[in-house]
Amino acid sequence: MARHLITSAIPYINGIKHLGNLVGSQLPADLYARYLRQRGHEVLFLCATDEHGTPAELAAAKAGKPVAEYCAEMWGVQAKLAEGFRLSFDHFGRSSSEQNKRLTQHFAKVLDDNGLIREVSEKQMYSHADGRFLPDRYIEGTCPNCGFDSARGDQCDNCTKQLDPVDLINPHSTISGSTDLEMRETKHLYLRQSVMKDQIEEWIDTREGWPVLTTSIAKKWLNDGDGLQDRGITRDLDWGVPVQKGDAPWPGMEGKVFYVWFDAPIEYIACAQEWVDAGKGDNWERWWRTDKGAADVRYTQFMGKDNVPFHTLSFPVTILGSNEPWKLVDYIKSFNYLNYDGGQFSTSRGRGVFMDQALEILPADYWRWWLLSHAPESSDAEFTWENFQTSVNKDLADVLGNFASRVTKFCRSKFSEAVPEGGAYGPLEEKFIADLTAKIREYEAHMEAIEVRKAAAALRAAWVLGNEYLQEAAPWSTFKTDPDTAAMQIRLGLNLIALYAVISEPFIPDACADLRSCLNAGADWPDDVPAALERLAPGHAFTVPEVTFRKITDAEREEWQARFAGVRT
Ligand code: 2FM
Ligand code: ZN
Repeated sequence: MARHLITSAIPYINGIKHLGNLVGSQLPADLYARYLRQRGHEVLFLCATDEHGTPAELAAAKAGKPVAEYCAEMWGVQAKLAEGFRLSFDHFGRSSSEQNKRLTQHFAKVLDDNGLIREVSEKQMYSHADGRFLPDRYIEGTCPNCGFDSARGDQCDNCTKQLDPVDLINPHSTISGSTDLEMRETKHLYLRQSVMKDQIEEWIDTREGWPVLTTSIAKKWLNDGDGLQDRGITRDLDWGVPVQKGDAPWPGMEGKVFYVWFDAPIEYIACAQEWVDAGKGDNWERWWRTDKGAADVRYTQFMGKDNVPFHTLSFPVTILGSNEPWKLVDYIKSFNYLNYDGGQFSTSRGRGVFMDQALEILPADYWRWWLLSHAPESSDAEFTWENFQTSVNKDLADVLGNFASRVTKFCRSKFSEAVPEGGAYGPLEEKFIADLTAKIREYEAHMEAIEVRKAAAALRAAWVLGNEYLQEAAPWSTFKTDPDTAAMQIRLGLNLIALYAVISEPFIPDACADLRSCLNAGADWPDDVPAALERLAPGHAFTVPEVTFRKITDAEREEWQARFAGVRT
């Protein structure tokens, strides 16, 4: 038994996440956490909302709410959806927590003590009417390149040219509309990442067995262009962690906050403190401090590929630069993108299926199965309604659901709602059990390696083996001439349902809980497969499950396709 710390990239607070976000971090993290718990490991699985930065401010303004109120509300919405998808976080925290504020200010102080922070004076657009410096996105004007009249300070959405606010013709504040703007001197803190380049590079080069996607992105950022650049870690915003040196003020930094990407990963640690402060755990340091027991924790992070640079370079700079005994990540599992029906999922454009909409249509297990079995691991993947319908109807309804239903119904009609006795196994059963054992061992290896698609394929293959066995054994015909053998085959079949209801749990937890409850079966992992297939002894009572998985009709598929063709408003 080992101790596993698992974190999922923390989703931005602004708005409900789409299925592409879900499959890129939270869902596979949940799969892994569930599996490790089942195998008897001690697991701490953490996630939170990422609440700071301009996008949160903008979204709150759009909703006409104070930003703190907006964040509190959206945290509730996201927490509820996480529950709906059965994401089994031990704690779902908030990056705006007091714990994260203190810890972020602490890290800034120790980094400064270690000579890793420098102050830089730069010029930035100041709005007299708003009484504040404006982030690039808060400034709009005419694009000098194409003449588009709503180009943003950082980029023109029409011609995609990267811009500087000073490039804009007739710039104005998007908060007040004021054109009374001036370039003013302002001071910011920079994290001296460049001096840690060698240390970071060596750390990355010595990570064994990391996914190619993760290390290739990290190396590209380390070695392209000017390599690891110093990075501004403060912003002129109201909303965020106030810039302080620990508890003390930071002269010249009044009214500024830390950049959202500085405090967000620190929330992974703060979240463990929140977990303790919420009364759910009693010691967070044994997960995070290598001097207090975390040295033998295995820490795995899950994220989409766009997050990899922050987790392979920036956050390790914070951790290593502190010179304090914090736990560093052991393995980073990253994902490509999931596309939607010929294009991209897009939060800003409301394109695709969002978490709340998905649950309105079908229960979580249907989505979990499709998303995980098509996880964008080696390349980008695409969601299409046809593919979704086929997968659900074949894998879940025809293969798994149908097996459970046939076996239990046959038993009820020919014997009773109790496991029948029957005779000894024959060669067919021996071969089946050997094949099944091999398949389950393969499944375990893929789960351990976090090869999500391969694990799904092995699990599906284990279900198929059961169907093939049943087809060949054909207890419905055996019963006519040899009821004793038919009873044995059904006894095996019932035990097999119970076994599936354990090993499939990380993918489809609700269906598995239902099946186990109908069969009055336990949840122990089948370390010894032949023994596991004898757990439900003759006479053991069960009830026939309701339809475990239903099929998606062509009419439904067409309706959903049409319903989600447009954009969400
Ligand atoms: O991409 C995102 O959704 C970011 N909010 C992820 C942050 S992960 C972290 F570092 F906390
Ligand atoms: Zn333009």
